Amino acid sequence: MNDLRTLILDRIRDVPDYPQPGVVFKDITPLLADPKAFGAVVDELAGAYRVDKIVGIEARGFILAAPVAHKAAAGFVPVRKKGKLPAETLEESYDLEYGSAVIEVHRDAFAPGERVLIVDDVLATGGTARAAVELVRRAGAEVVAIAVLMELAFLNGRERLDDVEVRSLVIV
Ligand code: PRP
Repeated sequence: MNDLRTLILDRIRDVPDYPQPGVVFKDITPLLADPKAFGAVVDELAGAYRVDKIVGIEARGFILAAPVAHKAAAGFVPVRKKGKLPAETLEESYDLEYGSAVIEVHRDAFAPGERVLIVDDVLATGGTARAAVELVRRAGAEVVAIAVLMELAFLNGRERLDDVEVRSLVIV
C-alpha cells in the first residue's frame, strides 16, 4: 500500500492558481499517462468491494470509474452535470470548492436495492460526493462506499459523509 501511495503521489501534479487564484489544482493526468500507475489504481479500487454498479462522477470520475466497473464486472452509471443525460433524471444541487453546480442521474439507473460504489478522483469539500450519495439513494440503490484516488483532508469533506464509508487511496 505504501508503494501504491508513492506511485500515486509521484504522479499527481500541483498546479497553483488554477482554475482561480489561491486554488492548488490536483492534476491527475501524469498518473493516467502511466499504465503501471493507472492500472494499479484501477485494480485497487475494483478489488475492495462486491457491488452491482459503479457510479462515476463527471468528468474526471468517469476516467477512473469506467475501468473499475469493467474490472469489477459491475455496471457503470454516469452521474452528470445538469442537462447532459437524455432520459428522465433526479437532480441534486451542491457547492464546490469553487462555484456551485447541479448533478443528475437517470431515474431508472438502478434496480431496487442494488449495491453501488461511487468513484471519483478527488474528495475536496465533499459537496459533490454528498450530492451523489443522495442521488443514488433517491434512485433506490444502496451506497456501499465512496472510493477516491485522493482526499484533501484540510477541506474536511469526510465530515459531510459520516453516514457512508469513505475510502481514499491517498490522503493529503
Ligand atoms: C472535481 C473533482 C470532484 C469534485 C470534488 O470535479 O473531480 O468531482 O471536484 O470537489 P468537492 O469535494 O469539493 O465537491 P469538478 O467539479 O471540478 O469537475 P470535473 O471533474 O468535470 O473537472
